[in-house]
Amino acid sequence: ALPRDLDGVRVVVSAGGTREPLDPVRHLGNRSSGKQGYALARVAAQRGAHVTLVTAHTDALPEPAGTEVVPVSTARQLAEAVESAAAGADVVVMAAAVADFRPVNTAEHKIKKTDHTPDPTITLTRNPDILAGLVERRRDGQIIVGFAAETGDETGSVLDHARAKLKRKGCDLLVVNAVGEGKAFEVEENTGWLLSAEGLEQRIPLGAKAQLAATLWDAVTALLRRRSHG
Ligand code: C5P
Repeated sequence: ALPRDLDGVRVVVSAGGTREPLDPVRHLGNRSSGKQGYALARVAAQRGAHVTLVTAHTDALPEPAGTEVVPVSTARQLAEAVESAAAGADVVVMAAAVADFRPVNTAEHKIKKTDHTPDPTITLTRNPDILAGLVERRRDGQIIVGFAAETGDETGSVLDHARAKLKRKGCDLLVVNAVGEGKAFEVEENTGWLLSAEGLEQRIPLGAKAQLAATLWDAVTALLRRRSHG
């Protein structure tokens, strides 16, 4: 049996990939399956947490048992749902793959080949950085966890990028995954590093996404214990 070390802890997890509409039938999306975020939500609930799972698009994953599920589609919808849930949360984990950019315009009707001569151009604008906003409005003692997908070789450039990103984003914990062919996205297993603002750098061996989830919740409970004991 799993430890009940998150008993009564209020947790928000975001998962899946956002979609940014171009017209009623098309969007810009990404390759997130939602599996890592869903594993995080499921394991937290098994360990006793109250879990709100804010989910963008996934590979038709079933709802994890014992969680409150809030479905969203775009980055801006995800921002609104996460920010409202975070107001009452002890821990927020941003595992969603949030689109950094969205089309400036969403066509009201399906864009037709004949609508454009020459071929159309998509102009993008920046989405809000949800994680940065959460850090800005962090409640006293609230723990904020980010994820980072980096391309590159794992121990060298990926870890360097992760250290810089942890500082830049100001979150308490950052999980970094190397992504690319057959890594992290759309697969059952995951690997990477867990970094903390206090300088912890823990290698996460290749394993099931539930295993990475367990490692992250272990680090979160350690932080919560230290904070409650001053
Ligand atoms: O900067 P980068 O996109 O690599 O950071 C990834 C982390 O930031 C993830 O935790 C992701 O959920 C979060 N993120 C966000 N809002 C965005 C883009 C990423 O919260 N617009």
